This record gives sequence, structure tokens and C-alpha cells, in this order.
Amino acid sequence: MSLTRRTALLGGSALGAAAFSGWSAKAATAALPREYPFTLGVASGDPAPDGVVLWTRLAPQPLAPDGGMAAGDVQVLWQVATDEHFADVVRAGSARAKSEWAHSVHVEVEGLLPDRVYYYRFRVGRQLSPVGRTRTTPPVGAPVSSLALAAVSCQSLPAGRYAAYRHIAERDLDIVLHLGDYIYEGRGPAQPSAGPDRRHLPFKATTSLEDYRIRHAQYRLDPDLQAAHASVAFLCVPDDHEVVNNMAGDYGANGNADPETFPRRRAAAYHAYYEHMPLRRSSLPSGPDMSLYRRFSYGDLAEIRLLDTRQYRTPQVDGPTFQPLPSDAYDPDRTLTGPEQERWLLEGLASSTARWNVIAQQVYLAAIDMDTADGQAYNTDKWDGYPAARSRITGFLHRQQPRNPIVLSGDVHAAMVNDITLEHDPTSPVVATEFIGSSISSGKGNNALFESALPHNPQVRYYNGRERGYLSCEVGRDVWTSDLWFVDDPSDAASRVRRDVSYVVEDGRLGAQPA
Ligand SMILES: [Fe+2]
Repeated sequence: MSLTRRTALLGGSALGAAAFSGWSAKAATAALPREYPFTLGVASGDPAPDGVVLWTRLAPQPLAPDGGMAAGDVQVLWQVATDEHFADVVRAGSARAKSEWAHSVHVEVEGLLPDRVYYYRFRVGRQLSPVGRTRTTPPVGAPVSSLALAAVSCQSLPAGRYAAYRHIAERDLDIVLHLGDYIYEGRGPAQPSAGPDRRHLPFKATTSLEDYRIRHAQYRLDPDLQAAHASVAFLCVPDDHEVVNNMAGDYGANGNADPETFPRRRAAAYHAYYEHMPLRRSSLPSGPDMSLYRRFSYGDLAEIRLLDTRQYRTPQVDGPTFQPLPSDAYDPDRTLTGPEQERWLLEGLASSTARWNVIAQQVYLAAIDMDTADGQAYNTDKWDGYPAARSRITGFLHRQQPRNPIVLSGDVHAAMVNDITLEHDPTSPVVATEFIGSSISSGKGNNALFESALPHNPQVRYYNGRERGYLSCEVGRDVWTSDLWFVDDPSDAASRVRRDVSYVVEDGRLGAQPA
């Protein structure tokens, strides 16, 4: 990104009187914030051929429980232009920022042209937001030659700074997939390795709506995260830490949460997640429920199915995280997706005509035996802990052979390139390729264990759990190229970000090869 563009994207300001032309009709506003309200930046998400979601939240005091806003709704004006100076405004309107949604705004713009770059901004009174840049998707089914995407996950604020996001903001990507752990709900360390300013707020585990709002606002104040959101549309799905570690359906961590109170906590967490993500109205939470799995088309080139592997999940089997699977783990009723989402996924894949069929989700789908000797031990929180559900997916891929299945995952805090095999036996047929792009900042506590298990897992073609980073993919008609990027110093926002390796998948050929 040029210096000019970065300045434009980050520079909110107050308007001079002459600058009010091109906005929609003057809107009635109950209680205008006196201080600058766009402290959390802007974002776009869930792009379509004719539109995109534009997001902001009014929060003059972002770390205050109410964001520093008086009770009552506020009208927010918005504009979309073809140029970053807003000489050519093509859409404009107003949206209501409601107290009950923390004065967040989710504008679903329609009537835009496909496959175009647009710029957008918001206005309240004389206060103008930073400018965001976004892009609509190509027409459904239209011939498309390339797609550039990044996949990110796991951005613990106390664990590191966001050089990876700075790097993403400087690139010209079409979309970013956020695969979860956008926030961490735990109290975190009193003296964070990334610096005292990264200590979690509130300094306790988040349980109430107020807690989750403050935690999201604290993360979103990071300038590199704001710059990434302002530069490219995100497709966001949560994992567990947006609510609680190892969440499974109606249960908190490992089934230990109180079933009386957990639905209230999940409702609070999803409410705050919606308030801070550029999601469509179709994802508006209702109590503890939120509709998150969904599909994106990129012309005839790619279909991306985003999964929700937490909300409809059967609890993990009892016992340690890594264990030989007990017989009850094989119960065919045990699920990560729930039957409805599983049917949606498999039926969608069966009828897809896309060249690349992407399954973007949270926990790794590859089978990985973590026993470092001759026994077997599987992580009960991953697909490995739900072998019947895993077999239904891999069996389908093996039988039906949808064209070029690519799985993009998060959660594990390690960069990986995996052959996904039909069975747990790594010599069984390869059915898809999985790419995981390490974590933006979260540490890898059990890296030594992973490294010592690698010799038993030849299907793990590449592994790096020591470094933080992200994945980017250049999708062409004949070749998919995945680049694994790493941050030299995770405590330094200015750190160099370097590409370590690239792997390719060729059209019609299962399995990744080093580029
Ligand atoms: Fe994580």
C-alpha cells in the first residue's frame, strides 16, 4: 500500500462545513457523541457480486462499558465511492446505531458492480470515520482467473503484536478468512510478553456482555488490526475462545460449565461478537444461537464454505486432551457440525461446479497421532476426537471426488500442510489437502510434543509451531499456491514478515507439493 493510501485509510477527521455534499439527507440524531466516535476503525465483510457489509461502532471511550455513548440510538451516515477521495460517490445512506448493539452499524450495501474496488466511510455530525477499502466478488459462475486470499486465526493480545496484520494491510488481497480466536476470553497473564499495554481488560475471564464488549474493543484498538480491516473484506467465523476454551454446543470447556448459566454466557459472547464483526443480518444472534456457517462464490473459480464446528458440537470425550480413543468416541451420533450443517456441506460439495472447493473451518481435519511411541493418542477436541463425523466427510470426499477440495483451518497455533487421509492410517488414500497458517500471535504451548510426534505422521508434510504468522493463497485456474508467512519478532509490531515456504496443489491432482 502506498503511504498516501495508508494515511487515507487511517486518517479520520472532523469535516469542514464545505464537505457535506454527497451525503444522504440530513439525519435526525438523538445524542451526538462529542468526542471522536470512530476509535475502533471500520471494516467490511461478507462480500457478494452486488454488495458488501460495511461496519463501524461508535465508541468515543472504547474501554468504557457503554463505549462512552449516551443511551439512545444515533443515525450514522455512510458513503461508498469508486475513489478514495469520494469524488465519485455511487451509494449513500443512513443507518441506525442502536444502544442495544453497542452503537455498532452493519450496512448491507446493494447495487454495486461485481469484482470492483470501492471505498467507504461513515459520518456522525461533523465527525468522519477513516476510509475503508473493499471489493465486491465476481458474478456467480463467471470465468475468473485468480483469487488472492489470506487465512488468519488466534490473535491473543497479551501474547504478541500484530505485525502479520500490518503485512496483510499492505498487500492487495481479495478477501481475508478469519477462522477464529479473534479474542481470548481468559484473564491472561499479569505481565504479558507483548508488553504491559497488552494486559487483558477487564483483567479477569469474560462472562458478561459488558466484559466481552470491553475485550473486543481492547483488541480492536490495535492499529494494525484496524489497518487490515480497513484494507480488505473479512469473512469471519468464531472458534471457541470468542466464548470459552474448548466450547462444545451447550457446554463450556470440556463440558464443565454450569448448564444453567452457560447459555447466558454464550449469548453474551455472541452478542458482542456480532457487534464487532462485519456480519450480515442473517447472522444476527438470537439468545445463545447465531447462524454462522455460510458459503461464498468466487465466479467459477472457487466456492468457500465456512463451517461452525463449535455451536452444534457433541461434548469432547472425557479424559485427557491426548488419549487413545475410547469406544464411545466412535458413536456415529457424535458430531462437530450437527446433522443439518453436515448435510448442507456435503450436498453443497456434491453439486458444486467450482474449480476449487474450499472448506474453511476451525480445528484440523487431518488425522494426527500424537503418541510419540508405538501407541496411539488423538486430540479429543479436533476432528480426530469425532472419528465417525470425520469419516463421513473424508468418505464423501473419497467417493464423490468434488473438484480440488482444499481445507483451511486455524486453532492449532502452528503452520501446517497436511495430506488429509481417508482413515486415521496415514497410508490410506489422500482425499484433500489442508493448509494452516500458524497463529497471528498466540503461543504454541505443546510444540515440543508436536515436534516429537512428527516422525509418526508422514501425512504432515510441513510443520512450524515455533513461529507466529499467517497463510496466504494465490488461486489460479491450474494451480493453487499457498504461502506460509512468519513474523521475526512477535513482540514487535514493526517486525519483518517473511515467506518461509510455498506449496502448490495442481488442478485435478490430490496432495500438495513444495513449490
Ligand atoms: Fe487459539
